[in-house]
Amino acid sequence: MIHIVDNISSTNDWLAKYYSEVDDTIIAIKQSKGKGRRGNTWESQIGGFYLSTVSSNHKLLPFIVGISIMNVLEKDCKGLNLKWPNDIILQGKKLGGILCEDFGDFSIIGIGINFENKPDIDNSTNLISNNISIDKSFFLASFLYNFDMKSSLTSEEIIENFIEYDCLIDKEVFWEGSSGIVKSIALDGSLVVESNDKELNLYSEEVHLERY
Ligand code: BTN
Repeated sequence: MIHIVDNISSTNDWLAKYYSEVDDTIIAIKQSKGKGRRGNTWESQIGGFYLSTVSSNHKLLPFIVGISIMNVLEKDCKGLNLKWPNDIILQGKKLGGILCEDFGDFSIIGIGINFENKPDIDNSTNLISNNISIDKSFFLASFLYNFDMKSSLTSEEIIENFIEYDCLIDKEVFWEGSSGIVKSIALDGSLVVESNDKELNLYSEEVHLERY
């Protein structure tokens, strides 16, 4: 079932409490306590797109979500990228983010995309200031369709597809006083980085990239 509400604390939190089956989905016009990754707040004024849906678990879930979003938006958006592990980038600025929460038997996928809203955050962007107009109902239907399709890909195909869009490949990244050049993404979803002539695997749960 698809629920549409005008105001809610967080679509992810609501679904975690009230979902009844996989594929249950909610979209909100605005959120009063939108959640971002790593305990951050997700600014959620009117004009943005706030979606959560229930999915069965998959170790590459954020990657499947990312490539599905690319499929929906890429025709209309020049300079659209993903940034490992969960960011949607337009013309070098953050357009949206993905928050996947694992509840054991199932996961909740949360997606926030700046359509007409302008978050008060450095280096963020929205569709409207890039003269891009996309119907939110079209986005919803098209995302759910693509997500279904992409969920049946192999891990190799998912990662290969994600790498095509990832703006970090071949770039220098910095984390906790270290730096390295991004070489690839491994099949377990870790970022493969060359640092001091060694290859390291960075895991999104452990490492926060400070700048790139
Ligand atoms: C990030 O930090 O980049 C991820 C942001 C995810 C925000 C979305 S908006 C819909 C869903 N409900 C939430 O509370 N968060 C996610």
